[in-house]
Amino acid sequence: MTTLSTLNKFKKSGTKFTCLTCYDAMFARTMDKAEIDTILIGDSLGMVVQGHDSTLPVTVADMAYHTANVARSNEHALILADLPFMSYVTLPEAIANSRQLMQAGAHVIKLEGGRELCELVKTLAQAGTPTCVHLGLTPQSVNVFGGYKVQGRSDESADKLFIDAQAVVAAGAALLVLECVPADLAKAVTEALDVPVIGIGAGADTDGQVLVMHDMLGMVHGRVPRFVHDFLSDERNTAHSIEGAFALYQQSVRECSFPTAQHQFS
Ligand code: KIV
Ligand code: NA
Repeated sequence: MTTLSTLNKFKKSGTKFTCLTCYDAMFARTMDKAEIDTILIGDSLGMVVQGHDSTLPVTVADMAYHTANVARSNEHALILADLPFMSYVTLPEAIANSRQLMQAGAHVIKLEGGRELCELVKTLAQAGTPTCVHLGLTPQSVNVFGGYKVQGRSDESADKLFIDAQAVVAAGAALLVLECVPADLAKAVTEALDVPVIGIGAGADTDGQVLVMHDMLGMVHGRVPRFVHDFLSDERNTAHSIEGAFALYQQSVRECSFPTAQHQFS
């Protein structure tokens, strides 16, 4: 069973680890068989499960439902669950909503943002709830960004991201996710901080990698993001199976053959 101490050991030993999004019991079971290290019940379910064009319509009840479905059949993975859009603006709301996801079976609560989350991160840690802070392209802020764009490209925004990351770790964040940031920035953050850093579109030097399950099975609606690889139709998936795709992803991340330079931003 993967725990936060497993991930901390992985970071110290330079062992790269995996995360995949998952929203239901049977896929969770299949990920278990492939020994995927961590599972994220992402609010990306708003897009891939519910058919919305953003993550904004997702509710805490939706997240709790899918978290419980995954948790029931999970044995091996550490389970992360997203607090959805506008469910953690005030401290009392954030605490009540985190409790709901933890009681549904999450082991870690994921939040999008930066230094403004410090008080919440500290409060949750003291109450027994570890947090993962998601920085860079934070999809819940798509209307602030004006689209899904790579973040941290200017010196100013790279500095802001670095300071945000340091601040939330100092406040007690257990993990970080970096989404769509230049690979050299992700490397610098990963090396500077003691907590495991999980990347998506953040290059090969983060401690872990995460992908949306549907994307890595080749189920993409519209343009395929640069950081996605289709592990289902990869010729090395000799079983041509979903379990084989998960196992190939796990193996590729462990042996550092995924991601490559073609999957990253500079
Ligand atoms: O919701 C999600 O799938 C995520 C990952 C892309 C990190 O937050
Ligand atoms: Na998310």
